[in-house]
Amino acid sequence: MGLIPQSFIDELIARADIVEVIGLRVPLKKAGREYKACCPFHGEKTASFWVSPEKQFYHCFGCGAHGTVLRFLMEHDRMAFPEAVEELATRLGLDVPREGGDAATNVHRADESLYELMARVAGFYSETLARDERARQYLERRGLEPQIIERFGIGFAPNSWNEVLRRFGGNEADRKQLADLGLIIERDRGQIRDGERHYDRFRERIMFPIRDARGRVIAFGGRIIEQGEPKYLNSPETALFHKGRELYALYETRRARSNLKRLLIVEGYMDAVRLHQSGITYAVATLGTATTPEHLKRIFRLVNEVVFAFDGDRAGRAAAWRALQHALPEAREGREIRFLFLPDGHDPDSLVGEEGREAFEKRLETTLPLSEYLVRELSEQADLSHADGRARFSELARPLFAKLSEGVYRELLLTRIAGVVGIAPQRLNELWSTTGAPQSRTAMEAPPPSPTMRTTTQGRTRTSAGRGSLVRQAIDRLVRFPAIAAEVSAQERAGLEVCEEAGIELLRELLDDLRERPVQIPAQVIERWADKPGGDALQKLLQREEIVADAAAAAGELRGALVRLADIAAARRLEALEEKSRTIRLEPEELMEFQRLMMRKKPRDGGGS
Ligand code: GTP
Ligand code: MN
Repeated sequence: MGLIPQSFIDELIARADIVEVIGLRVPLKKAGREYKACCPFHGEKTASFWVSPEKQFYHCFGCGAHGTVLRFLMEHDRMAFPEAVEELATRLGLDVPREGGDAATNVHRADESLYELMARVAGFYSETLARDERARQYLERRGLEPQIIERFGIGFAPNSWNEVLRRFGGNEADRKQLADLGLIIERDRGQIRDGERHYDRFRERIMFPIRDARGRVIAFGGRIIEQGEPKYLNSPETALFHKGRELYALYETRRARSNLKRLLIVEGYMDAVRLHQSGITYAVATLGTATTPEHLKRIFRLVNEVVFAFDGDRAGRAAAWRALQHALPEAREGREIRFLFLPDGHDPDSLVGEEGREAFEKRLETTLPLSEYLVRELSEQADLSHADGRARFSELARPLFAKLSEGVYRELLLTRIAGVVGIAPQRLNELWSTTGAPQSRTAMEAPPPSPTMRTTTQGRTRTSAGRGSLVRQAIDRLVRFPAIAAEVSAQERAGLEVCEEAGIELLRELLDDLRERPVQIPAQVIERWADKPGGDALQKLLQREEIVADAAAAAGELRGALVRLADIAAARRLEALEEKSRTIRLEPEELMEFQRLMMRKKPRDGGGS
């Protein structure tokens, strides 16, 4: 989809009432021409959070949080920029226009009618369920109450090869849409029956509508009601549905609670539905796939605490291990990732049915943190009572450790692993960064260059040549992964002071700003820079397709670029001083600087930033 035009955003901000939007989330008190409250962004007892209806702006004198209604939605409800725009537009009854020429607009319009068709088909499945005694009895046997069936829009696809086709596929265009949505399937040439080229995909199945963040039905999961194969049939990937991105029950979760603190991630549709019914309204399910990095990015925009629930059997453990690997790049201080292993023979559905909400939630309090799960799992693969086993443990841990972003969390886990291996953390880190990398590690996952790898040669070609200047690369990474600004050391930042490359001012400003007021997602940077010099350039950068594996890789590249920029600046300065010293005597300060710069040229030990 195209970009949302700035003019529309202006209009939204102009038409929205910030007092109303914030007032729904924070109890506001009128104070003169403005409103005030205790700040929702930091803990406080006296109100220092102000909302101005005139300026349509909020500001906290305590923590400095401030912004427009859009920024508020993004920061308070942890929405991405487009989500905040959608949310506001929906409130005002506006459609969000998208830029990008006719093609994009047409696609958008086509999308709209696809959503409509999905909604109508979902309605049909619901009606069918209401009429079908056997299907209703099945759900009753599974312990689902009418209320929850309604809340999730659960339905039933009749036992027919062409009911959906006939009802919704009146003409060629309709049939094309049904086929595009994966609701009907085209027959092979030889098998056309009664003139019908298509047949219904879902027949005699309980239908779970999968909804997007706005509650629109984008796909279905269909469960067979008797024995049979496959047990579940899902919609294929379509224009509306990308399995690896969506989480079942996320819409219902967000609707159920305004201040979401944690998410429980389960494997099955029935698990999620049953948990919601029991009052655990923060359960979501992956759609028969492992948790993808994309899932996790979405999840951590919403909450800081995630619990994965897995069956205690072998399949469950394998799935948990995959989830751990995908979660590592997202692990960092301030976030909690934990694992719950259920007793044998149980899934969340059966367990919560048996023991109820309270007992189930008690289990959530005693789950394994990611770090402990990692250590436990690896310990089982290596005999820690021998040096050989501990060495093996270290080698197993290394590629996993490499997936972590730089930061406190990474340091803590290093300490934990080093404790098991039985050597000093510093030493383990040195060994890991100097000996050859394990094969499973790709260049993207490599840590930032250590100080010994610094180059001091002016203008030397970079490893990632041909992708624009160093400055541009650094800015690009910051815009894409703004949180990595926090990983830049004071020393690395200081190295930019004397730098004179084109665009360095924007880089310095961006870096300082993001370090001071950290944000998580690119749109926030864009909004923040919307009317500042360089704002356009940032948007353009972000529109380019750039493949960066994850925040850890981006942080490595950013820091690498900063170090090289500092080196280039230092080399220039050194050259200038050398030049000067040939004609006149250097001042004492200049001499000292000269010596410092000469020192810098020499490779250093690992004790740097
Ligand atoms: P019940 O058996 O009704 O309790 O369903 P469940 O949701 O607990 O399913 P289960 O634990 O067996 O599987 C977990 C998830 O994996 C399901 O919700 C589906 O998303 C997916 N799944 C299970 N079986 C199949 C299958 O045969 N085909 C596909 N595509 N997905 C499946
Ligand atoms: Mn189940």
